[in-house]
Amino acid sequence: MYKKFLDLGDQPLANSFFFNCNFSKKKIYKLKVKINLKNFLVSIQNTIPKQKMFNAKYPYRSSTSFTMKESFRKLAIKILKNFNPKLILEIGSNDGMFIKNFNKNMVIGVEPCKNLAIETRKNGFKIFSNYWDLNLAKKITKLKKFDIIYSANTITHIKNLGSVFRAISYALEKNGILIIEDPSLMDCLKLNAYDQFYCEHIYIFSAISLSSILKEYNFEIFRIEKLKVHGGSNRYYIKRKSNKDFKIEKSYKDHIAAELKYGLKNYTIYQEFKKRVEISKNKLIKLLNGFKKKKLRVIGYGATAKSVTVLNYCKINKNLISYFLDTTPDKINKYLPGCDILVKRYKKLKKKNVDIVFLGAWNFKDEILRKEKSFISKGGKFITHIPYPRIL
Ligand code: TMP
Repeated sequence: MYKKFLDLGDQPLANSFFFNCNFSKKKIYKLKVKINLKNFLVSIQNTIPKQKMFNAKYPYRSSTSFTMKESFRKLAIKILKNFNPKLILEIGSNDGMFIKNFNKNMVIGVEPCKNLAIETRKNGFKIFSNYWDLNLAKKITKLKKFDIIYSANTITHIKNLGSVFRAISYALEKNGILIIEDPSLMDCLKLNAYDQFYCEHIYIFSAISLSSILKEYNFEIFRIEKLKVHGGSNRYYIKRKSNKDFKIEKSYKDHIAAELKYGLKNYTIYQEFKKRVEISKNKLIKLLNGFKKKKLRVIGYGATAKSVTVLNYCKINKNLISYFLDTTPDKINKYLPGCDILVKRYKKLKKKNVDIVFLGAWNFKDEILRKEKSFISKGGKFITHIPYPRIL
């Protein structure tokens, strides 16, 4: 049985950046969030066909952040050291930030967004530009199956989890390891990060819900690493139940215990989250209105998909945030989806131009504050809505 617990209003496609404000203003679905009370999987209620979201115009690049580059680099070293794989598959290889850490003949990427696949192929990597499913798994494992399958911030974007895990089960060697990382539901609730929900994030996993799903495909999690990236993520190490090379580790047991203690199996936790989200919305609007009264110049930093949820849910327009800065080429000079706020090319912040900066990319707070030290030292201020709206 499903129970809806959050309504984030009418929303556009989170990555549909247009030059024409009239196109970008279109809202196309109602963003509601529900929980499955059987396996405690949290998901959005109305989904968008994958072809509309993940196509040759997809703007997001993992390479825009140093934090992600470093995270992938460190993981690659760990994988080579701990598992000594001969062949690795990445599902959702984006612009190749993970696979570029490996020898070209030991890694294959799957990336349905053609623009990103083409970019990565240019660097000599083998990329299949298809959606991940059993047909593709059969096609790419004709010669050999994979020792490691890795997927970051992708599995939660695919509606049919049955199809995902059946294809993984087919493509993975008998004693192969599946590593997936995605935003953590517990962190999302603790941080009041309601902007983790948008059209592409169909699911926000917890260890509890993921374990329950994996069981159906004879997989089990044996290790969990908590990561700071993307606003708090979990990296799950998964094996077949029949694989006795690895034991279920303490990190898994501790994590499940922490999720149970926090109350991820109690519906009231989600009702309380909803209340906190409403308070967050009102506080953010109040904060921004206060700046407007004082005639302070407010802009946004990081035109993230997360910001799209926030701006549309809180109905924030260019009267409150004049424009956003972003480094992503495909977002620049276009409007933030659903609003009349323009994205401008990133330039180092200067106090003479700007007073207050809304941190859209709050998940890269440390990296951004480090970069903008000089603006802050001259009295420039950042604001965030995480975990509650405030001046940093
Ligand atoms: P994400 O939160 O979905 O990963 O998106 C991050 C966005 O923030 C992406 O559009 C790039 C942008 N960004 C900047 O503009 N400057 C930065 O320093 C960082 C870290 C990200």
